[in-house]
This record gives sequence, structure tokens and C-alpha cells, in this order.
Amino acid sequence: MQVKAVLLAGGLGTRLHPLTEHLPKPMVPVLGRPWLERLLEDLAKQRVTEAVCALRHEPEAIMDRIGDGESLGLPVRYRIEPAPLGTGGAIRYAAQGIGETFLVFNADVAHQFDLKKLVDFHRERRALVTIGLVALEDVSGYGVVERDDAGRVLRFVEKPEPGEVRSPFVNAGVYVFEPAALEYIPEGREVSVERETFPALLAAGEPVYATVLDGYWSDLGTRERYLRVHRDILAGRWPLPEVGLQPARDRVWQDPSARVHPEAELVPPVWLGPRSVVESGAVVGPWVVLGPGSRIGAGARVQDAVLWEGARVGPGAQLESSVLGRGASVPGGVRCWECLVAPSPATAGR
Ligand code: GDD
Ligand code: MG
Repeated sequence: MQVKAVLLAGGLGTRLHPLTEHLPKPMVPVLGRPWLERLLEDLAKQRVTEAVCALRHEPEAIMDRIGDGESLGLPVRYRIEPAPLGTGGAIRYAAQGIGETFLVFNADVAHQFDLKKLVDFHRERRALVTIGLVALEDVSGYGVVERDDAGRVLRFVEKPEPGEVRSPFVNAGVYVFEPAALEYIPEGREVSVERETFPALLAAGEPVYATVLDGYWSDLGTRERYLRVHRDILAGRWPLPEVGLQPARDRVWQDPSARVHPEAELVPPVWLGPRSVVESGAVVGPWVVLGPGSRIGAGARVQDAVLWEGARVGPGAQLESSVLGRGASVPGGVRCWECLVAPSPATAGR
């Protein structure tokens, strides 16, 4: 396939605050591992030849962890914007010098699908830009796309008002770009590719196409969506290698270094990461992911929850529909429902 990719990873992630106050959203863990790492590894497997990360917010958190990309199987470069450029400006800035067909990803969206199929579709239609789509029941909060039978885009409306657009297809945040499309992005100011560039390309009659991606796709950017992604993984709807490869006893995936007290109860599906601990009398599950080194205190009850590395739930606490940041702790006896608990200050941003 031999294409390069630009990864948009500079947004503020405000809808997941306080979890992402000091952590770029693409670095949120998916089953205990930063999503961006999983994405880059998948790109390497699908023969993407280089990734350029477009950064702005907390760039070190990404650069320190990912480095030159060698351990993930593809070279990774970084472009840090001197001022906020928006999605369009960031694409233009990061794609400088690529000079051939390239892919663009919103790096805050979890997905896995066949990239070659998307690039083939783009090339067959001689498109200037191709937009990957997913069909959703509720399109609010996304970019909505209308297209003709041949897949040519007729309209792109970013975050339409209810009833404004009649289409179930939303922008997946995955594009194929020809370098010539960059000329439609003015330089030196903030430009939204969704609000400005796509409409400008369409108004100029340029060939913009869209095709539905087949595979897994889900936004990661709110508590509900983040929890849903983990439920999807544990239900087998997104077949991550760990879930397929590691032996699961009745949908309990337990790392060999995890410790569960004989008097604790696991209600499947549950994922117990390395060095996680469940103490006596605790009831954990269903739909729980315990990150590395996290700990559930005696008699606590936890369901529909994701704990990041080193997070702790105190004795007798109750946790439901919640996410605990790195090193976060819920004191004993407390009830947490639909909570996002801030990482501990000592570990924030690591
Ligand atoms: N480098 C850089 N610079 N990246 C940016 C900037 C910027 O100024 N602004 C946003 N980004 C990155 C974000 O980190 C994210 O990965 C991506 O660009 C999209 O921005 P969001 O702020 O997350 O947009 P959204 O989630 O509201 O909507 C977008 O994604 C939807 C799919 O999840 C749009 O592309 C929608 O059309 C789309 O449906
Ligand atoms: Mg987003």
C-alpha cells in the first residue's frame, strides 16, 4: 500500500476532563495500553510507511512514550504547532513535504478496519479527498455526510442541528488526501477541516468521495463512549489480540501476576491486568477492566468500570459506570456512580 499517515493528536480532550487534563486523549488506555500505541501498531501491520503526529496539547506525554516509533514497527515523526491551527491547519502543517497520497486520522477515535480497501476506493475514483464513514443511530455531535449512489459527497455538515441533515452516515475521522487538497487550507490561521475545508472543496466541485468502513469504530471521547468501547472489547465486538490470545476462563481474563483473594467474587466479563489485586469479599464485574497495578479493597463492589494503572478503590466502596484515572483513589465506603476520578497529582501527565 505504501502510504504515510498524519495523526491529529493535538486536541484538548475537554469532554474527558479531569482524566485528560494532563494527558492527550489519544493516550487514554484501551485495555490498559495507550490507544495511540495500538493505533500505530495497527498502521505498521497494515504497511503504513510513516506516521506524522500533529501535536499541540501536552506533546511530551506522547513523544516520551512513543519516541521514534521503532518499537511499534514504523517511523514516527512529530510536528508541534506554534499556535492553535485547528484540524485543517494541523493537517496542512503536518503534511508538509509528504508529496503523495496520504491518510489522516483523528487519533482520539478507536477503530480497526482494512486501510487498503479505503485507499483502493480513493484511487479507483480518482478522488481528491475520501472520507471514511460509519453509520450511527444518533448522529448528533458528529460530522454528517450526504452522498450520491456513486459515493460522491454532496454535503458535509459538522455537528448539525437536529433534523438538519437526513443521513445516518457520520465522518469517522479517517480520510485519504491528495496533496493538492492542501491548497484549500489557508495558512497561518486556525482552520477546521470539517467546517471550512470540506465545504470549500465541495463548493469548488472537487471530487470528494466517502465510503463506509467495515470494521470496528467508536469515539473514545466521553465517559459513556469510553466505557462502551471496553464493553465492546469484553463482548468480543472488537477483537483485540489480548482477548483472543490469552486463555479466558468463562470470560475472566486474568494476567498471571494478578491476585484475587479466594473470598472475592468475579462476575464475568472481567479483565484483570498485570499486578492488579482484588481483596477479600470484593465483588468485581460485570464489565470491569482493572489496569496494571490497580487494587480493589475488601468488600468493595465494582461494575461497568475501567481503572487505569495504579488506581484504587477503598474497602467497602461502591463503583459503577465510572472511570478512575492513573493512581486515582476512591476512599473506603464511598459510592461513585457515573464518576470520572482525577489521576493522582503525583502521576498526572506521566
Ligand atoms: N494537532 C492538532 N491541532 N490536532 C487537533 C486540533 C489542533 O488544533 N484540534 C483538534 N485536533 C485533533 C483532536 O485531538 C482529535 O484527534 C481530532 O483532531 C478531532 O478533533 P475533536 O475536537 O476531537 O473533534 P470532534 O470529536 O468534536 O469531531 C471530529 O471527530 C468526529 C469523529 O469522532 C470531527 O472530525 C467530526 O466530523 C467527526 O464525526
Ligand atoms: Mg473527537
